[in-house]
Amino acid sequence: VAEMFPPLVILILLPTIVSSFILPPQISDDQNWVLVQKRDDDSEDFWNRSWKDYKEGFGSEQGAFYWMGLEKLHGMATKDTSLKIEMWGDRAPGSNNPEEYYWAVYTFSLGAESTNYTAHFDYDWRTPVEEAGNATTGWYDMTCNDGVPFSTVDRINDPVSQCVTDYHLGGWWLRNCAMASLNGEYWPSLGLGNGYGLFWIVDGLYVINPAKTKMWIASTN
Ligand SMILES: *[C@@H]1O[C@H](CO)[C@@H](O)[C@H](O)[C@H]1NC(C)=O
Ligand SMILES: *[C@@H]1O[C@H](CO)[C@@H](O)[C@H](O)[C@H]1NC(C)=O
Ligand SMILES: *[C@@H]1O[C@H](CO)[C@@H](O)[C@H](O)[C@H]1NC(C)=O
Repeated sequence: VAEMFPPLVILILLPTIVSSFILPPQISDDQNWVLVQKRDDDSEDFWNRSWKDYKEGFGSEQGAFYWMGLEKLHGMATKDTSLKIEMWGDRAPGSNNPEEYYWAVYTFSLGAESTNYTAHFDYDWRTPVEEAGNATTGWYDMTCNDGVPFSTVDRINDPVSQCVTDYHLGGWWLRNCAMASLNGEYWPSLGLGNGYGLFWIVDGLYVINPAKTKMWIASTN
């Protein structure tokens, strides 16, 4: 959502500040990635599921959609872990890369329900693209919602409630909306290509609406 972008000065300062204390997650192909989220199509709305549903999980790993559940995710991510994002395709009208594949890896931890499942996302911008992924070469990404609690339609913890009720961003970690939401409405009522519903911002430059998504978690080596 364009009006929510941080001012340019923050974007210029951020890398210097962040780089001084965050270690990059060490990723190798033999890591034991556990599925957290999956969307193959529009068969499940995601954005208007309840707090209870997001807490307990829904769908199945073998099916077209899946959400592990925040309680289980918290159990696996009380300490720093690696969170991997995968996205296939772009449904935004006029997309230059309608068949592209993108991925990203963050350092991730998740608080208990008493914190409203406050998440921590870290990413060291100096990490080579081969390790950090090619969805995170700008700063408009999940790290903008570091330290943010979870919101659902029946439990909005975002000071800007429209991020849930109008922009249909989820079931997600929202504070003045977000720079990405993988649980947003598949076909957002307000349209594609504009940071509503299911979206991601590539290179900090343009919005994509992935056709398929997956999220994975693994212990950080
Ligand atoms: C959830 O939203 C979808 C549209 O994205 C709508 O078709 C569906 O009826 C809604 N479900 C509930 C329970 O409100
Ligand atoms: C991202 O990386 C994957 C695998 O490393 C590659 O298949 C894909 O084409 C890359 N996408 C972009 C936009 O560079
Ligand atoms: C958690 O969310 C509830 C409902 O939105 C709110 O009343 C409560 O103050 C929140 N707790 C914390 C620790 O933020």
